[in-house]
Amino acid sequence: MVSPLTPADGVLLKRDDLLHPDIPGNKWRKLKYNITGEPLVTFGGAYSNHIRAVAAAGRALGFATGGVIRGEPVRNEVLDFAVACGMRLVFVTRALYREKGSAEMLGLLDAEFPGHRVLPEGGSNAAAVRGCMEIGPELAHLGEAVVCCPVGTGGTLAGLAAGLPPGFTAVGFSVLKGGGFLDDEVARLQTEALGHVTTNWRIETGFHFGGYARTTPELSAFIRDFEARHGLRLDPVYTAKMMYGIRSLGLGPTVVALVTGKV
Ligand SMILES: Cc1ncc(COP(=O)(O)O)c(C=O)c1O
Repeated sequence: MVSPLTPADGVLLKRDDLLHPDIPGNKWRKLKYNITGEPLVTFGGAYSNHIRAVAAAGRALGFATGGVIRGEPVRNEVLDFAVACGMRLVFVTRALYREKGSAEMLGLLDAEFPGHRVLPEGGSNAAAVRGCMEIGPELAHLGEAVVCCPVGTGGTLAGLAAGLPPGFTAVGFSVLKGGGFLDDEVARLQTEALGHVTTNWRIETGFHFGGYARTTPELSAFIRDFEARHGLRLDPVYTAKMMYGIRSLGLGPTVVALVTGKV
């Protein structure tokens, strides 16, 4: 399926959120070449869209899944769904979660998830970049455009930019405070996937609204107003911050906003 393009506020929305009910948006793109039928274990916070999507993919395609979750053991809608899909969860301290390459973490993965292939946090690796490279050709008929996406770990932007036709540029909007390090992450991921870094992208770091999953009355009002006018409730963690940024910057005659998750 090629996700549709629909207009809103002078911008074309690339509705990747419609690609799959439980594996929407960039999850579909990033998992496509990461799924081989082998058991997978991955990392995320208690509300991680990525954890949810990996669990759903495991259930749909019949492979085992594991999730290493940051922080105290909790239950919520995302984790209940993951468990219902058959994902085995292990909670680790924030300190251990930060040290994903440590001997302690590798020992834990070996002991708890033997034989599982490890997928990084957010699912961002070279295979994910290759999956996101398939977005660009679906936009080629526009001739030229500025294509925007939210940035968390950088994999989506790395692949989006790498797959764009000549004449197109990509702009990412960091949803993290202090997102300056993300330039290096996108460059690292492109190098891993392509062997070089493309020059057709940049990251805006001024639209994080206080940081990851933080909001402000201004952003909440923007989400309500957008929903009233277009009947689409933007996800406050990712897509809303990108859309607010696009509206503030005026990026050009043809702007495409990638809807990377459920709205
Ligand atoms: C809905 C949604 N949009 C955007 C992103 C950011 O993508 P990336 O981590 O590839 O930068 C994420 C996190 O992966 C997400 O869940």
